[in-house]
Amino acid sequence: MAPVDPASRAWHPSRLAVQPTGEALCAAARELAADLGVPVRRTLVAPATAGGSADPSSSPGPGTSPTRRALLEAARDDGLDLLLVLTPRRLELQSTAEPISGPIWADLTGDDAGGPRRRLSARDPDPLVRATGLHRMSAAERRAWRCVDATTGLGRDTHHIISLGCQVVSMERSPVIAALLRDAYARAEAADETGTFSQRLTLVAPVDARDGLLRRAGADDAPHLVLVDPMHPPRRKSARVRKELRLVRAAVGDDPDAKHLLEAALACAQRRVVVKRPAGSPPLAGLVPSRAVEGRSVRYDVYLR
Ligand SMILES: C[S@@+](CC[C@H](N)C(=O)[O-])C[C@H]1O[C@@H](n2cnc3c(N)ncnc32)[C@H](O)[C@@H]1O
Repeated sequence: MAPVDPASRAWHPSRLAVQPTGEALCAAARELAADLGVPVRRTLVAPATAGGSADPSSSPGPGTSPTRRALLEAARDDGLDLLLVLTPRRLELQSTAEPISGPIWADLTGDDAGGPRRRLSARDPDPLVRATGLHRMSAAERRAWRCVDATTGLGRDTHHIISLGCQVVSMERSPVIAALLRDAYARAEAADETGTFSQRLTLVAPVDARDGLLRRAGADDAPHLVLVDPMHPPRRKSARVRKELRLVRAAVGDDPDAKHLLEAALACAQRRVVVKRPAGSPPLAGLVPSRAVEGRSVRYDVYLR
């Protein structure tokens, strides 16, 4: 793994540590903690408890394992806000202040999303599909369509764009979210028997997408489509999304420079830029889009090039 650019460390504002959940994971946890420049915590040896899983690697939430809860409470007492919990299955991010609400993780395939996630198709009337214009293309055109997801987060939109058949370069600047994404990428690659996943998706993280986009601007292979979804102000949504947003926000802070990211996207995209905005909010940086596609709680502002 490439070392994290020290400048990008500004993008994890919370006090954070890496927590392995078994002896076999200690070396990987130490390596990750060194990359992120954060402490690594001692492995907990699960005590035998009655009435509940004593496995600290089991994900909490309703029915939280007592051992995992103890682990989170100990971290909170040590002044930590967040733990990157390394389990045999995946890397998870969890708030020490909200042990009951459970962890989050990245998922690039929709198979491990922790809840049902729709697979979009080009015939889908989904607002994201309509905003990208992919519903008007043949399968061959979609396969040749180069997309950049400039704000990958936990990978939901990247997964949607891949499932529509496009080539995607996914960028994420938070080193913490990038670690979750690299873990999700490794899981998806390991499960992919056909090799199509790694042909379709290139993960570039951590990187400031502004730099990544400006480097590609004007090149023959500049992306056709750039997707921009910076952090939005908190809003009402399902409990899981609220939790996701709270945790991602705790890990990355706000995106006060989103205007500059949009400028880079507009300079780089050959055909269109799609910006996800909360419904009812003004366009990003006051830039009036070519058109807008309304969803239930979000709006996609489309800038045609
Ligand atoms: C609202 S989340 C994106 C959610 C994502 N669209 C999804 O479907 O899961 C915003 C993410 O964009 C990232 N981000 C914001 N500005 C960025 C930039 N200039 N370069 C790369 N990533 C950026 C943040 O770190 C955060 O993880």
